[in-house]
Amino acid sequence: MKKGKLIIANWKMNPASLKEVLKLAKASDKEGVVLCVPFVFLKEVKKVLKKAKLGAQNVSTEQAGAYTGEVSADMLYDMGARSVIVGHSERRALGENNIDVNKKIKSVLSAGLTPIVCIGERERDENHEYINIVKTQLVESLNGIVKSDLSKLIIAYEPVWALSTTANRRDATSADSLEMVIFIKKVLSDKFGATTKLPRIIYGGSVNEKDVADFLKNGGVDGALVGRASLDAKKFLQIIRIAENVS
Ligand code: PGA
Repeated sequence: MKKGKLIIANWKMNPASLKEVLKLAKASDKEGVVLCVPFVFLKEVKKVLKKAKLGAQNVSTEQAGAYTGEVSADMLYDMGARSVIVGHSERRALGENNIDVNKKIKSVLSAGLTPIVCIGERERDENHEYINIVKTQLVESLNGIVKSDLSKLIIAYEPVWALSTTANRRDATSADSLEMVIFIKKVLSDKFGATTKLPRIIYGGSVNEKDVADFLKNGGVDGALVGRASLDAKKFLQIIRIAENVS
């Protein structure tokens, strides 16, 4: 694997003001980084980025038309975004299902953007049902996606029980990540047949400056999706520096 891993920031519904947004964007502007920012700040953030790429956090299932309050993939592209998070657990909690995620992936791909497809179980049960949950998310979300588009995707494995915002959260380990990455690759090869052009797979769930090296070295992933720690410029720069040096 080539040196340097992908670090994607998910700012969620933060920061509150354009002033703070621009300060954080400028501080986070490094190669190999994608900043997924709230819709309203896309255009202004785009203007200050020289090295990092711009992403969004959600997109409409539909291409255009009478969908009040929605934002289409073409609009995101026009604002300078080149990737978009789909199927984040916080959106699934609001009712988004695998069929919606599937539609979003298709419209994102047809607009020329990279979908960052989030999958991950809410909890780990003793009967290992969580494995089937992740499999179903993956298979249904990728329904009708052609093999040649696989390498255009990024799959983010985010166990919900490890996210920084989950009540009574637990830390996931790099071994948990590695196990799931192997499983995801198996599901993909069962569905699409053997291919060398797999999506990049990244890990997310409370990644911080202390554990990122372990996830990147031992978790089987090509990068990390970082929520809370991406809002702290000092911590985020430490994460980026570590990611630059992991092969
Ligand atoms: P976290 O968020 O790093 O704050 O756990 C990650 C995410 O929800 O994408």
